[in-house]
Amino acid sequence: MTPHLIVSYLTSRAGGPGSGKGTQCANIVEHFGYTHLSAGDLLRAEAQSGSKNGTMIENMMSEGVIVPSEITIKLLEKAMLENENDKFLIDGFPRNEENRAAFESITGIEPEFVLFFDCSEEEMERRLLTRNQGRVDDNIDTIRKRFKVFLESSLDVINYYNSKGKVKKIDAGKPAGEVFEAVKAVFAPIR
Ligand code: ADP
Ligand code: C5P
Ligand code: MG
Repeated sequence: MTPHLIVSYLTSRAGGPGSGKGTQCANIVEHFGYTHLSAGDLLRAEAQSGSKNGTMIENMMSEGVIVPSEITIKLLEKAMLENENDKFLIDGFPRNEENRAAFESITGIEPEFVLFFDCSEEEMERRLLTRNQGRVDDNIDTIRKRFKVFLESSLDVINYYNSKGKVKKIDAGKPAGEVFEAVKAVFAPIR
């Protein structure tokens, strides 16, 4: 199994939440036959399921912090095993070096490549504040915390994948249709 992991990368001017990962993953699923697994969506579903970790996950997400790797990895693994597809887009994961190292050692899976959705913080903030999906974390206080967590925790992951030549950078600040044209150029040769 060689899933294509999608994380958003950051530069000095960029963060990750709201860069359009979910939006573009839906396009990739439609055009290229991948299965989309959003770590955040899996965690939200787990929080709402009333499981023993549910309240802890909900509280951590409301604060914008990263949930322990073992919980998220179990959810991703289960979702992959339950699906017959062998092409996965893993969205919003890994979020920190521990996520990455634990995922690779537990599953033995390494991504074929990593998409970096480069978008300014101002634009991401605008998008998150108008997303309107009733999320507990799409408020200005939590958004700022999420940007901070992203800057502090995710750079190492990207540096690691960059050193392996696996990062493909996309200008995600443009309108969604234009972003997808750039995404298509990455996926078309490997379909
Ligand atoms: P992420 O999964 O990276 O957090 P989403 O795909 O949920 O981001 O997008 C966040 C919000 O921004 C959504 O309301 C979405 O409709 C909108 N959006 C996504 N891509 C773009 C774009 N290129 N331009 C403007 N708005 C966008
Ligand atoms: O990717 P998304 O914006 O949906 O993530 C929402 C929240 O889910 C994050 O702010 C974080 O609290 C949690 N999350 C996590 N570990 C991941 C992905 C998301 O803890 N790998
Ligand atoms: Mg998302």
